[in-house]
Amino acid sequence: MIPLNLLQEISEKYSTPGYIYDAEKIRENCTKITRAFTRHYPSTVVHFAVKANSCPAVLKIIAETGLSADCSSPFELLLANKCGFEKSKIMYTGNYESPQDLAFATEYASIINLDDITSLKRLTSFKVPEVVSFRINPGIGRGGFEGVVTGGVDAKFGVPYEQAFKAYQDAYDLGVRRFGIHMMTGSNNLEPLFFAEITEKLMHVAGDVFSRLGVAPEYIDIGGGFGIPYSNAESEIDIEKVAELVSSRFIENCKKYHFQTPILRIEPGRYITGNAGILLSRVTGKKTGYRNYTGLDAGMNSLLRPALYGAFHRIEAPFKKETPLVKTNLCGRICENSDIFARDILLPDLEEGDLVLFRDCGAYGFTMSSNYNGRPLPSEIVVDRGKVTYVRKKETPQEMLKKHFKEQES
Ligand code: LLP
Repeated sequence: MIPLNLLQEISEKYSTPGYIYDAEKIRENCTKITRAFTRHYPSTVVHFAVKANSCPAVLKIIAETGLSADCSSPFELLLANKCGFEKSKIMYTGNYESPQDLAFATEYASIINLDDITSLKRLTSFKVPEVVSFRINPGIGRGGFEGVVTGGVDAKFGVPYEQAFKAYQDAYDLGVRRFGIHMMTGSNNLEPLFFAEITEKLMHVAGDVFSRLGVAPEYIDIGGGFGIPYSNAESEIDIEKVAELVSSRFIENCKKYHFQTPILRIEPGRYITGNAGILLSRVTGKKTGYRNYTGLDAGMNSLLRPALYGAFHRIEAPFKKETPLVKTNLCGRICENSDIFARDILLPDLEEGDLVLFRDCGAYGFTMSSNYNGRPLPSEIVVDRGKVTYVRKKETPQEMLKKHFKEQES
């Protein structure tokens, strides 16, 4: 936890809105999930899902702890490469991959999880890879919100499991003999049994496909999805239990299908950085009308989750303890009425310039921010054992203008 007096200091020195990440918490999360899984199944490889947090200093910390990376775009590949992940530790999992995406993935990643049978055709038009892996939709999925359910009949991702054999047979017919298999069925799940259930499902698909082909997979990837509590009513995911249940189903099925110790891959994003980041913002205006509104310099352009999913974040005004609590609607400055972080929230009576803190913003915070309404991207700061070690300043309107014209020239 970053001490409040340091946050106050940071807020005075750097402009808001800004994301602040706790380096030690990130290291702790990396260690916790890696230890839990490797204790039960030593051949586990943990890939950080870069889409959750793309801050270069954060990626460097994660690479230093020994984790691998999972990327979903050419930019994420370049970033992972620059931040210390060797090619052997970079995996690519996209969807509806363009030939350009696949060319980048071939250059920067050692493993590609293909989203579809047609993706294999696009890839092999310029290169037949040594190892082929498909993202399988196992027919089930679950997530914190409808928008983050990525498996099941309504998900746009992956090869339906009924078509899995055909997908691998196509690759086999091209001469490929080394295989992996992948799934990602949903995000922000807190229930250990769910992970056991999806593992069992994928193992059966793998068992069927690879026994029929007469080969064994080199790796089996169960994706990410390990949730974090956002409210006081939720508790932390029992990651030990998840690892124990997943590994036991994994090992049992490896025996059943005669797979010789394949690598078990997992791809946590939120679990690694979610609770290690906060968003600091300042009040820019207050209004009393049909309802009371408190407007902030952060908006749906800085933190999209509440507007997009109705996501809840704990919001505090920790520097304003002495005043009585009042009800307000906390919003940003974007010209959309979904730009409301919380309705009827009880907070100290805030004034212009006061600081507001959003908890658990280390995943899908900055990476989902935008320049909408011509607003700058927020700043990013890393605090490492009490020291401010990295600062990306908030963009200025002039820098945004420059970027805009550069894009037009190229
Ligand atoms: N692997 C793949 C292929 C993914 O698509 C994702 C996330 C992950 C791993 C990491 O999932 P995690 O462990 O973080 O749940 N924007 C949403 C979350 C969308 C997740 C999309 N895929 C949110 O703010 O809750």
